[in-house]
Amino acid sequence: MKERLQNLLNEADELITGACDEKALSEARTRILGRKGELTSILRSLKDLPADERSAVGQLANRIKADLEARFDKAEAALNERIERQKLASEFVDVTLPGRRFIPGRTHILNRVANELIEVFNGLGFQLAEGPEVELDYYNFEALNIPRDHPARDMQDTFYFSENVVLRTHTSPVQIRTMEKQKPPVRVICPGKVYRRDADITHSPMFMQIEGLWVDKGVSFADLKGVLTAFVHVYFGEQVGLRFRPSFFPFTEPSAEVDIQCVICGGTGCRTCSQTGWLEILGSGMVDPELYSFVNYDPEIYTGYAFGLGIERVAMLKYGIPDIRAFYENDMRFLTQF
Ligand code: DAH
Repeated sequence: MKERLQNLLNEADELITGACDEKALSEARTRILGRKGELTSILRSLKDLPADERSAVGQLANRIKADLEARFDKAEAALNERIERQKLASEFVDVTLPGRRFIPGRTHILNRVANELIEVFNGLGFQLAEGPEVELDYYNFEALNIPRDHPARDMQDTFYFSENVVLRTHTSPVQIRTMEKQKPPVRVICPGKVYRRDADITHSPMFMQIEGLWVDKGVSFADLKGVLTAFVHVYFGEQVGLRFRPSFFPFTEPSAEVDIQCVICGGTGCRTCSQTGWLEILGSGMVDPELYSFVNYDPEIYTGYAFGLGIERVAMLKYGIPDIRAFYENDMRFLTQF
C-alpha cells in the first residue's frame, strides 16, 4: 500500500511537470485525485487492511492527499501566472518607439494657383466654365478662325486621335462651347490642361491655361485693359506695372500680349527677364467678329474681349520657381513647399 502511495506521488510529479496548459493540468488532477482516481481507490481499500496497519496507512494516505492537492494548487497558480505574463508580453506597447508619420495630401501648386486665379476673376465678375481636354478639331481650330491647311495652324502643333479629334492645344475652344450654349452677356473663366507637341526646358507637352471671355453690348478694349490691370495689381501687387504689346492671334482683332514688370528684379533687368525688365504673361484681344458667325451672335450688336494665360508661368513668377519641369516631377521635396 505504501508503495502504491509512493508511486502515486511520483506519477503526480511527472504529470504536473509535463502539463503545459490548463486542460492537461486539470486532466492530471482528475486522474490522481478524482472520484475514479488512484487515490480514491487506495482510500477505499483501507478498510481491507488489518486493523493494526489501517490507522498508520490511513494517516499517511491523508497526508499524501493533502500534499497532492497542495502540489496541484501550486502548479495551477504557476501556470496561471505564466499565462498572464505571456499575455502581458504579447500586448506590450512600446510608447517610446517613433510614431508612424501621417502625410496629409495637399492641393498641387498648379491647382492652387488656378484656384487663386479663379477667385480673383470671380471677384471681377467671371463665372467658372469648363470644356473637354479631348476636343474636336472644329472647336480647337476651325471655329477659332484657324482653318484647315492655313498657316495659322503652325502656331500650335498638337496630338491627333484622328483627323477630327485632338488633344486641345489651348483653353480657347471653351469660348466657342460657351457662346454656343448661351446668349450674351457672357463672362467666363475657364481653367484646364492643354497639350502641344513641344518639349524643352521652357515647354512641357502638357501644361495649364486659364481662359477669360467677356462678351456683351458695348464692351471695348478699355474694359480689357481695366480688368487685366486690376488682375495684375490684385495678384502680383499694386506696384507691378504692365504693358500691352501689339500681337496676332487668329481669334482676336486687335490682339495684344501683356507683359508685367519683372517680379524678380523689379524691372531693372536680370536673367529671368533677359535683361529687359519685362515678362510676358498672357495673350489677349478683342474677339474677332468672325467667331460670332460660328455661334450666331450678331457682330453689329455684341463685342467682347478674351485672354489666355499660362498657369505655370504665373506660378513660377508668383512663387519664384525657376524651372517648369519641377511641376511635373512629383518630387515631394518640391511639392510640400507649397
Ligand atoms: N489661346 C492662345 C494660346 O494658347 C492664348 C490666347 C491669346 C487666348 C489671345 C485668348 C486670346 O483668349 O484672346 O496661345
